[in-house]
Amino acid sequence: METAVATAAGASAPACEFHGDNLKRRLVTILSLLLILLLVSGGWYLHTQQQGRERAVRLFAQFKPAPLPDIGSTRSLRILPLLEYRSARPDLLTEVGISYLVETDSQRILYDVGQNSRGIRPSALERNMATLGVELESIDTVFISHNHLDHVGGLNWQNNNTFSLGAEQKPFPNPRTQLIVPGSMSYPGMTPITAEQPMAIGPGIGSTGLASTGSIGRQLAIGWIEEHSLVVMVEGLGGVIIVACGHQPVPNLLKRYDDLFEAPLYGIIGGLHFPVPEGRIRLGPVDVQRQLASGEGLLSPLSAAEVDRQLAMLQQYQPRVIGVSPHDSSDEVIARAEQLFGSAYRHIRVGEAIVIGESAAQ
Ligand SMILES: [Fe+2]
Repeated sequence: METAVATAAGASAPACEFHGDNLKRRLVTILSLLLILLLVSGGWYLHTQQQGRERAVRLFAQFKPAPLPDIGSTRSLRILPLLEYRSARPDLLTEVGISYLVETDSQRILYDVGQNSRGIRPSALERNMATLGVELESIDTVFISHNHLDHVGGLNWQNNNTFSLGAEQKPFPNPRTQLIVPGSMSYPGMTPITAEQPMAIGPGIGSTGLASTGSIGRQLAIGWIEEHSLVVMVEGLGGVIIVACGHQPVPNLLKRYDDLFEAPLYGIIGGLHFPVPEGRIRLGPVDVQRQLASGEGLLSPLSAAEVDRQLAMLQQYQPRVIGVSPHDSSDEVIARAEQLFGSAYRHIRVGEAIVIGESAAQ
C-alpha cells in the first residue's frame, strides 16, 4: 500500500511540471501575439493619423475656391440657440450639443440638431422647439454642419450618416424644406444638397445672402471629419460666419472666408473648439474634446498657447459681433474671449437671440 502511494506520488510530479511548463509556454505565446497585435495596430493607427494630417494640409493648400462675389444680402439676421450647453431660461434644456434657428429676411434655417444626450422622447431639441414656438413646418432649410454626434442627434444617427431631431426621423412637413449637408449624408424623403465646395444657398441664388464655406477636412484622433459653416451677408455690415464645432480649424475657416468674400467679416458665432484646459466630455481619464477631437493627434492636444494664437488672429479681424459656443470651449476661454472682445462679445445661450442688422441694438 505504501509502495503504491509512493509510486503514484513519484509519477505525478513530472506530469505537473510538464503541464505547468506547457501552460507557461501557451501564456507566453498568447501574450507575445497580443503584444505584436497591439504594436501593429498602434503603428497602423499612427501611420493613418499622419497620412490624414498630411492629406488635410495638402487638400486645403491645393483647393483654390472660386469667389462668391454676389450671394445677395439680408437686412436682418437673428440667431436663436435652440440647444446649447448654457441656457438663458430655466425652462429650456441644455446639453453638449448645438442647434440654432437662423432667421434672415427670406429664410428660416435649422442649423444642426443637437445630440439628444438624455435619450428622451420628445428630445431636448423637440421640447425646446415646442417651448420656443418653433414649428418644423416653418423651416425652409436644414443645414447640417458635420457628422458628429453632438450635431446630428446622437451616435446612432452619426453611425448611419444621417441625423434626427429626436428618437425617430419624422418627415419634414413642408415640401419646400431643403437639406444642405457637408458630405455623404442623407435623410428619408429628402434630396440632400452636398456642400463639398463653397456655394450660394437659394432659392434664388444671389438673393438670400446665404452661402456655405464648403467642407474643410481635418484629421482628428477619432477620425477624419469634414465640416462646413454658414455665411450670412448682412446688408451694409458684412459677413457673419455661423460655425458649429470649429474643426476646420479657425485659421482655415478665416482664410476660406477671405478667399470667398470681399466684404469684411462682421461677426463669428458658434463653436470654435477651444476645450482648454479641459473639455465638456470625459470618457474615464480621457478628455474627449481636447484629446480626441482637437489638436494634431492623440499626443498633441490643443494647447493654451495655440488658443491664444487663434484668438489673436480673430482679433485682427476686429469682429463687431463674436460669440463662442460653450459646448466645445471651456469657461476659461469664454471668459478670455469676453475680456478680449469687450462689447462685441455675445453669450450663446438657449432661448436668447443674437440679433444683427436691422432692428438690432448695435
Ligand atoms: Fe460640436
